Amino acid sequence: MGLPRIMVVDDADELGRVAADLVTDAIASTPAASVVPATGRTPMKLYAHLAARREAGLFDTTPVTAVQLDEYLGLANSDRRTLFGWMDRSFLQPLCIADERVIRLPLDGDLDEACDAYDRDRETRGPIDLAILGLGENGHLGFNEPPSGSEAPTRTVELSPMTIAANAGYWGTEADVPTRAVTMGMRHLLAARTVVLLVTGERKRSIAHRALEGPIGPEIPASFLREATGEVTVVVDRAAWGDR
Ligand code: PGA
Repeated sequence: MGLPRIMVVDDADELGRVAADLVTDAIASTPAASVVPATGRTPMKLYAHLAARREAGLFDTTPVTAVQLDEYLGLANSDRRTLFGWMDRSFLQPLCIADERVIRLPLDGDLDEACDAYDRDRETRGPIDLAILGLGENGHLGFNEPPSGSEAPTRTVELSPMTIAANAGYWGTEADVPTRAVTMGMRHLLAARTVVLLVTGERKRSIAHRALEGPIGPEIPASFLREATGEVTVVVDRAAWGDR
């Protein structure tokens, strides 16, 4: 464990390239890596770079296992707006990751029981090798909304008004955004061997500094990355970090 490495890059394009180097290196050193690929706008350029590199034969994702980070509740499986659908279109398909190499979050039945079983299974499998994460404007990681402690398990959550507002653009209006979700717990994200946190845009400037320089605690779940077990790299563009 050590403090996160912070890489300040010029813009979202450079962020995509730099993050692709980090991810390619991590997968090169652990070919059968378990990878958490966040959805959201931020990692999309990264995933496009990875797909191009795979296509060019620069690295192989066949043995990679993808582990779903979060999902809305209350949507039909076939709904294009599921986060699984987004992960599928942006990461699984472009990187040719087979269905049997995808670990999905539980969405049916007794979810408390199913999330406990999910966590027991996770403990047996061992730490995630690589977590690719975005940063919520409220400091969430996945849908670990504030307050979320560092030991927070995989569970169902109520989305915060800030998260609903931030996602309204994908849905039409705020009223259309699902209010409940399932998220992989903080404990698994913080135990990952490698974490790459991606942050772009001025809207994230305040939370980026609070997460990386302010008090560590459940009110800003991402702040716990400063106490994470593995190697944490934050790639942040100038709009989100400022010039200092
Ligand atoms: P964004 O989402 O990449 O669309 O900004 C990040 C997040 O809310 O975790």
